[in-house]
Amino acid sequence: MDTGALVRDAESAETLRYWQVEEKENELVFVYELAERDIVYGLGEQVRGINKRGGRYVSYNTDNPHHTDDMPSLYGSHNLLLIDGDGCVGTFFDTPAKAIFEVDYHGSGKIVVRCDKNVKVVEMDGANAYAVTREFLSLIGRSFIPPLWAFGFGQSRWGYKRQKDIDAVADGYRNADIPLDWICLDIDYMDRYIDFTVNKKRFPDLKEYAESMRSRGLRLVPIIDAGVKVEPGNETYEEGVKRGYFCTNHEGGLFKAAVWPGMTHFPDFFQPKCREWFGNEYRKLTDMGIEGFWNDMNEPAIFYSEYTGVLNALTPSPSTESEKETNAYKDYRNFYHNIDGKRVLHDKVHNLFGALMTRAASEQLDKMLPGRFLLFSRSSYVGAHRYGGIWTGDNASAWDHLVRNVKMMPSLNMVGFLYSGADTGGFGGNCGRELMLRWLAFSAFTPLMRNHSAILTRKQECYRYSGTDDFRSIVSLRYKLLPYIYSEYVKAALHGDMYIKPLGFEYADERSRNIEDQLLVGDSIMIAPIIEKGAKDRVVWLPEEMTEVRYDGNGFECEQIPKGLRRIQVGLNEVVFYIRKGRCVPVCKGGPCTAKTDMRDVVLLGDGEEYRQYIDDGFTKDVREENIITVKKA
Ligand code: GLC
Repeated sequence: MDTGALVRDAESAETLRYWQVEEKENELVFVYELAERDIVYGLGEQVRGINKRGGRYVSYNTDNPHHTDDMPSLYGSHNLLLIDGDGCVGTFFDTPAKAIFEVDYHGSGKIVVRCDKNVKVVEMDGANAYAVTREFLSLIGRSFIPPLWAFGFGQSRWGYKRQKDIDAVADGYRNADIPLDWICLDIDYMDRYIDFTVNKKRFPDLKEYAESMRSRGLRLVPIIDAGVKVEPGNETYEEGVKRGYFCTNHEGGLFKAAVWPGMTHFPDFFQPKCREWFGNEYRKLTDMGIEGFWNDMNEPAIFYSEYTGVLNALTPSPSTESEKETNAYKDYRNFYHNIDGKRVLHDKVHNLFGALMTRAASEQLDKMLPGRFLLFSRSSYVGAHRYGGIWTGDNASAWDHLVRNVKMMPSLNMVGFLYSGADTGGFGGNCGRELMLRWLAFSAFTPLMRNHSAILTRKQECYRYSGTDDFRSIVSLRYKLLPYIYSEYVKAALHGDMYIKPLGFEYADERSRNIEDQLLVGDSIMIAPIIEKGAKDRVVWLPEEMTEVRYDGNGFECEQIPKGLRRIQVGLNEVVFYIRKGRCVPVCKGGPCTAKTDMRDVVLLGDGEEYRQYIDDGFTKDVREENIITVKKA
């Protein structure tokens, strides 16, 4: 069966070297004995920090905003484990169906993986977790590379309805002199949430509007949802029905489920022709000058269906753990795909749905646009990183969500999702000033840096808070660091490398191996963000001598610091980061947007002598090694 899977062309071992396998009636059970010192990395978009020991995780893509440590599933499935002790064993469980991972659960000292028999297992080994991760990254293919403007700051909110709301955001940022490159259009830009339509009352001439925004250095990035509204007259619906491109129900009719527009059909992204057709629909917006999209509700999220009914949707919280794994678990056993002419139950291939939506969009956008585009998705599977980025879904304005964001980033990089980030400031709930500033100070280092929030929450655009100088300081640091962020990202993509790594991937000492609140960003920087409410200082571990860089909105102050523990004070207007021994970080003057940021005019910080900088026009598809130049200290 060709599920259109994204990595299944990989070679797999005939017999497993590191795992005991037991065949049960409906599943395979894999067991691995852990040593005490082993750290278990992996699983991408999951809760509970960098080291996965002690938890139970379920790969079954889920639309669920409760990102607590006992939530077994989030929006993506990334079935990679890296067991790092004396050497490292990596294993990838490639299955589009549900997979359960118990990692030293209840202190069992074992990893137990249970999954569908439709699995391909790829074992890898190497000297350490970093080496094995790079082997895995080389197997799954090169990361998506968005245009330069996508590395600028983005502002979003569910609730911007019409042109004047977007104008207010553009003016708010430009008047406060806080840099901004893009603004998201959430579902209200559409005509009654119908994909590929524009509400003409709210945006009378989107083409002209997108053009006028662009002249201010701002791109518009509309949302596209997976479900297509069932409504005669909706072109996408009519075409999809005519060509047999929608998922079917038990009786062979079309499956109907309610999402934002009311009743919808789901495109059957497993059919190559359907992908081509759906991807081509994006042309309706690219024809209006749009160069970026976010794909949403593609687990797929289901509010209720004609099978499970409204009552299911109104049931507040599922009572058993297995039900908790997804709010639409019953529906996923109620519809079918047409895969190579065979009817396949959605549940069996569930985890690929969102990834294939991203693939559908990406493959066609690549054909229709002359340059690179921005695309990021909520749901994903390993391999989708070749087609777009991801954001980490509906988090909340709470300190523990910032902590989770910090700890999740390296895991996302292990499975290829370099272009990723969280809703800065939190999606649900009300974001206070201190949390927003600390969160921005972390997001300044993540490739996707977007402030996004839910309708009815406190408005959280940076210019709404008092003391905008502090916000300008932090966001402008991002723009000063762009030559570094952009270069490190592109080099990581070109070289099959990670952009954000745990400390333990580069430093073998036990303290570094176990630190979860400091990260390596690119090859030169170490960050130690403040992620605790009220904290004015924190302890930082320096595994070697480094240059401490402090930025406070005025300039960079640098100081050589010896190896060891150190307590640092960090004001709300400040960012402190570290440059590794013998390395450099290029910084430029920054600007109000990427188009006005001179990436060539750089100064090198750090005690190294030179830096390998990637430079291009910011959108060429021809991203190559030859565009990397050596910049030397003056
Ligand atoms: C989903 C998305 C969120 C978006 C909302 C409305 O909850 O995750 O980002 O704002 O839908 O479209």
